[in-house]
Amino acid sequence: MCNIKVKNISKRFDDKLVLDNISFEIKERDIFGLIGPNGAGKSTLISIITGLLKANNGEVEIGGYSIKDEPLKAKELLGLVPQEIALMEQLSAYDNLEYFGAFYGLKGKVLKERIQEALEVTGLTDRKKEKVTKFSGGMKRRLNLAVAIMHRPKLLIMDEPTVGVDPQSRNYIFEFVKKINKENNTTVIYTSHYMEEVENLCNSIFILDLGKEIASGTKSSIKSMTSIHGSIKLTLEDPSEEFILRVKELEGVKDSFIKEEIINIFIDEGRFNLEDLLMLSMREKKKIKNLNVEEASLEEVFLSLTGKKLRD
Ligand SMILES: Nc1ncnc2c1ncn2[C@@H]1O[C@H](COP(=O)(O)OP(=O)(O)O)[C@@H](O)[C@H]1O
Ligand SMILES: [Mg+2]
Repeated sequence: MCNIKVKNISKRFDDKLVLDNISFEIKERDIFGLIGPNGAGKSTLISIITGLLKANNGEVEIGGYSIKDEPLKAKELLGLVPQEIALMEQLSAYDNLEYFGAFYGLKGKVLKERIQEALEVTGLTDRKKEKVTKFSGGMKRRLNLAVAIMHRPKLLIMDEPTVGVDPQSRNYIFEFVKKINKENNTTVIYTSHYMEEVENLCNSIFILDLGKEIASGTKSSIKSMTSIHGSIKLTLEDPSEEFILRVKELEGVKDSFIKEEIINIFIDEGRFNLEDLLMLSMREKKKIKNLNVEEASLEEVFLSLTGKKLRD
């Protein structure tokens, strides 16, 4: 069991309120995306969830254990990949894993097995004898990830794991997250200021800006909070003005016109239902040659909710 409850968390540094009454719940086995621009309060929130930092207000529960009242039981369930890489630079990858594994209380045969497993899933087996100083940024990230999963945590928390990472390691990290979530039922909290990463990876999303909740929910429920548009391009064997009129009558369609044989449809994603369009084509006996749906991105959602871009 590893669901997470964050209840009314507030945090001040001196007089500055950096987290303002933040609440959410994460279901077991979810991949939860925490997004927001730099300075939003993501790392502060992660530190509070993992018990590294105390909140001024509110509570956190991990798998039913309060991080305040039963910190050891709660911490046993979690693995953290911090934003700042924490490794022993002068040791080899293998020795780092041995060191941190012992820190988690692993020893003997189990320790050896877990080191091997962690090296394999992060693709570092071939490089295990090399000193960390020789590693690229992406490899260091992967090793940091290997460290965080040695004790097979039920909850894996990753704070901006792809910053400064080459594309190959980046893909490795994505695939790894999907795999560990599916095969080990690991609940994941994934923090990023790259909207498109979170969009591809996460089931539920929480958007934070200047310590405040901007939006939370599934991707589609967040999108339905705004009136931003998606668009559809539809090619029919035999299009007609009559058909366009029918399309315009569908729920959630803002506008539709035909241009160079392609029917362009602008939609309000929260209200539009693709099935309605398919049913209409069938009823009108129009054969579909091509259909292309372009969703509005979370980046656009953030812009529409805050008036700001997520990145400069
Ligand atoms: N130890 C600290 N002392 C004072 N201010 C801090 C400290 N840590 C973070 N902050 C401030 O809190 C805010 C949120 O920071 P952070 O949680 O690191 O944001 P993010 O991870 O989203 O970039 C920022 O304004 C930052 O300057
Ligand atoms: Mg941060």
